[in-house]
Amino acid sequence: MDNKKKSSFTGSIGFVLAAAGSAVGVGNIWRFPYLAARDGGGLFIFVYLILVVTFGFSLLVTDIAIGRKTGKSAIDAFGAISKKWDFLGKITFLIPAIIMTYYTVIGGWVLRYIVDYITGKGSAAAQDGYFTGFITSQISPIVYMLIFLALTAFVVYAGVDKGIERFSKIVMPGLILMVIAIAVFSLTLSHTDANGVTRTGMQGLAVYLIPDFTGVTFSKFLSILLDAMSQLFFSLSVSMGIMITYGSYVKKDVDLNKSITQIELFDTGVALLAGAMIIPAVYVFMGTEGMTSGPSLMFISLPKVFMSMGSMGSVVGIVFFIMVAFAALTSCVSIMETLVAGVMSKTGASRKKTSFIIGVISAVASIIICLGYNVFYFELTLPNGAVGQILDIADYISNSFLMPLIALITSVFVGWVIKPQWIIDEMQRNGEKFSRKAMYVVMVKFITPVIMAVLFLQSTGFFTFIINMFAKIFG
Ligand code: PFF
Repeated sequence: MDNKKKSSFTGSIGFVLAAAGSAVGVGNIWRFPYLAARDGGGLFIFVYLILVVTFGFSLLVTDIAIGRKTGKSAIDAFGAISKKWDFLGKITFLIPAIIMTYYTVIGGWVLRYIVDYITGKGSAAAQDGYFTGFITSQISPIVYMLIFLALTAFVVYAGVDKGIERFSKIVMPGLILMVIAIAVFSLTLSHTDANGVTRTGMQGLAVYLIPDFTGVTFSKFLSILLDAMSQLFFSLSVSMGIMITYGSYVKKDVDLNKSITQIELFDTGVALLAGAMIIPAVYVFMGTEGMTSGPSLMFISLPKVFMSMGSMGSVVGIVFFIMVAFAALTSCVSIMETLVAGVMSKTGASRKKTSFIIGVISAVASIIICLGYNVFYFELTLPNGAVGQILDIADYISNSFLMPLIALITSVFVGWVIKPQWIIDEMQRNGEKFSRKAMYVVMVKFITPVIMAVLFLQSTGFFTFIINMFAKIFG
């Protein structure tokens, strides 16, 4: 074991808030509400909640326990357990390396909207074509991305306890207060449109929470399940080395059982609140058609909603985008920390020097992503049928392709090579009760590998290929 003084979080609260900071990000705000609105409201939420406490829990336990037990960051952790499995750390490391290149670009977009709302240009942001005009311009997205990257690098540069922990302790409670405030405001809204139809925030809440079974067939249910599963993955920041790295900073006397439950609660709580904040507001002013996913929800639909709110809209706009910036920053910090920790351990260089160098490399890579909307513009059809630019391709490779692959290999490694008892021992290190132990064993040995294999094959377009082949053969 290494005897060097290792960086660590000061205690359980610091760890939980930092890990929650990683988990709570744009995924909670722009994806969860949309999926809930599209996939039958309460039905999706119910499926998602079941998956969080079974599947999400098992993946979190695996990552965090590996991190704390080995004391190594993602790139070294698997090799420290078994030399033959060192490759797994290396491919895991690829995910934050890829995500880092585009997360800063999205963070930059958010900063730009904060500036717009503060300088009273919120109504310009609500005009058609504003967002596309902005991201396809050459200079502005790069400038904002660089500011976002500098803020991230600054926190990582300051260190685990003095940077990441301290930052998360200020930002995360602030974020919760802002989501609650906007959610309460959303519920009080009411609007009568040009056709004389009045819609209220409470009706919007009903759309969000009441399960809607209309048109739910078995195959529709399966697609809801898959949506919930891939959302869960991204949302909890699991199987990408981040939670392994953060786990390695947790002191040995911390009760991981409690901390993991708190991280799950935090991430799911913010996702649920984000839905209560966004769905009623969009429903009141735009009906269900305004519910889009991804950047268009946040940068196109919501500015229109804020504009319809009148003078209150610009205040809500400022609070909203500051909240998103907080969420994005703490997530980006966790990605960059994983890269910095990995490079520090491989090269022995100092944190300050490594943060600087990774910052510069990321800046170059992110500039290329920004230029993907103008100079390097092209359209590529992804295996899931979506058409994307460089940013979407990077996102697809890391989230749809690599993450299930890594979760698959990791669960085979834990379930069948080192055996679940290795993890269980770490969960019970101080005599704590690992109450979901039996479930954990079943999940890691059987269910996770199967489901991950399905998700992985789906991401490669394998199923579409097979279905098309059968269709050809049998006419
Ligand atoms: N979990 C974050 C979210 O839900 O938005 C996003 C995220 C953080 C993704 C860190 C990937 C990552 F490496």
